[in-house]
Formats: sequence, C-alpha cells, structure tokens
Amino acid sequence: LAAAQGDALPKLPVKAKYRVCFNQSEMDNPWRFALTASMEDEAKRLGWTLIFTNANGSAKKQVADVRSCIAQRVDAIFLTPREKKPLATVVMEAKRAGIPLFVIDRGVDETVAKPGRDFISFIGSDFYEEGRRAAEWLVKTTGGKAKVIELQGTEGSSPALNRQKGFADYIRKYPGIQVVASKSGNFTREEGQKVMASLIKSHPEVTAVYAHNDEMAFGAIPSLEAAGRKPGKDIVLVSIDGNKEALQAIIDGKLGASVECNPRFGPKAFQTLKDYAAGKKIPTRLVNDDRLFDKTNAKALLSSAF
Ligand code: AHR
Repeated sequence: LAAAQGDALPKLPVKAKYRVCFNQSEMDNPWRFALTASMEDEAKRLGWTLIFTNANGSAKKQVADVRSCIAQRVDAIFLTPREKKPLATVVMEAKRAGIPLFVIDRGVDETVAKPGRDFISFIGSDFYEEGRRAAEWLVKTTGGKAKVIELQGTEGSSPALNRQKGFADYIRKYPGIQVVASKSGNFTREEGQKVMASLIKSHPEVTAVYAHNDEMAFGAIPSLEAAGRKPGKDIVLVSIDGNKEALQAIIDGKLGASVECNPRFGPKAFQTLKDYAAGKKIPTRLVNDDRLFDKTNAKALLSSAF
C-alpha cells in the first residue's frame, strides 16, 4: 500500500463514450432500486456502456465484483461500498491498476484509501448531518423528552456509523432524550420488524423510534401496532431516506419525519467523470443537498420523492 499511496491518481482520457462499472452493494429496497435506475438511465442517455454488478449484500462478493471490473480494464469504476473496511483494499487495487474510481453513496475506510489521493472523489450524502437533523427534529417535536429505540443500519457501513454518531452527539445536550436500546436491523424492512418485535417487549417504556432508514421504520410500525402501540399517537417515529412511501406515511400520520438521502446519483456521478477527464479540479467530496420531510411539506413534495 505504501508505494501506491505515493503514486498520482490514474488519468482518464477525454472520449465520447466510456465503458464503466457500477458495483452495487445490494438490491433489496427502493433506495437501491432508485440508485441503480439513476445510473442506468444516465448511461443510456449518454450512450455509455455500464457494466452493473450486484453484491447481494456480501462485502466479499463486492470485492470480487470490483476485481472483475479491474480485470476487464474498464475506463472507470463507480463503487457504492457495502462496508467501510473490506472495500478500501480494492479501491487501492484499482488505483494500482491505473483505473480511476469514484466512491458513491457510502464511504470506505479513509485511513486506507483517501479521496483525492487514492480515488477521485466521494459523491454522496452527509450521513452524520442526517443523524443530527433527525435528532434535532425529535428534540423539537418531543420538547426534549423521549425514550428512544434506535434501529441501526448495516453494521460496519458508513451510513450506520455516522447516522448513529450524528444523532448521539446532538442529543448529548438533552438529558431528557435517552436511547434505551440500539440494534441493527440491517437496513431492511424484514429485520426492522423482527428487531422491533423483540425490543418493544423488553422496552415497553419507549416513546420514540429513530430508524436509520425508512424501510426499517416500515418494519417497526406493524410490530409496534401488534404490541398495542399507536405510531404517530403514543409513539413518534423519525427515519432517513425520504422515499414516496415515507412521505405518504407522514401524510397519514404514522411517521413523524424522514430526512432525505437522495439516491439519484447518475447525472452527478457521470458529470464528475467527464469533468475529471477534461482536467477540471474535482473536489474530494461532493456532498448532496438533502431535504427534511415532515407534516409541513410532505404533501407538497410527495411527487418529487423517489
Ligand atoms: O447508503 C444509503 C443507505 O443504504 C440508505 O439509507 C438505505 O436505504 C440503503 O440501503
């Protein structure tokens, strides 16, 4: 690694059309589908060849997927790393192979691979800020008094780590807000439902749920209802992603708020590649502008959600 870290970033010639890889982590929720559709639509619009791989929720498979793209000598790689640590190694392998790589959506371990030094840029949301905004909304809504169950995302993933930290740092100033349980629901509806079914039994005192994505909040709702709770009435829920179903749940009163995490990366990712090839200076981080949806704006913004 040490030798590679001294090397310059791989160059990319200007071409009319590129052959690029997009290494997706899994395809198990509307957010992932929206991200893939956005990448595919943009590739189609530009007439580029997009080689798509799906790691099916396995960091090991995703490592193999990136290696296969390196072996195929593609022009560039777009990687959405399932977990921070295991994927950092292949980012370095792409650099050594002279293939420019863009990390999109989730981050890699930056003690191993750094944007602007080892890969071109990180393009995505500020997950820490998402967690902070969810906490801020909860404090405002509950007057700073709540017993919270937190449903965390995939262990070792940058959104789970940073959404947890952003939330925890913010509530530190509010002793009336306590996280009584925090467990991973792996960003899926099914696991969110199972985890909540068990946590609600051990923590009947809970008054709020913070889910790291909408899917887990949708899983939590039926488990809370089965335990006799009334989401939106005797328990408040806040989540992240801001998909259409979440906005509808806000309108219906079951979900309190959802912080947007915009999955429509295609245009931005491909434009950044073109800018890089053209020799423009690329910021090491291109952070998306995300909104917050609650009852004040959900109806008006429903049609703009994914
Ligand atoms: O990395 C972004 C997160 O991953 C989204 O919040 C989630 O829905 C997805 O699976």
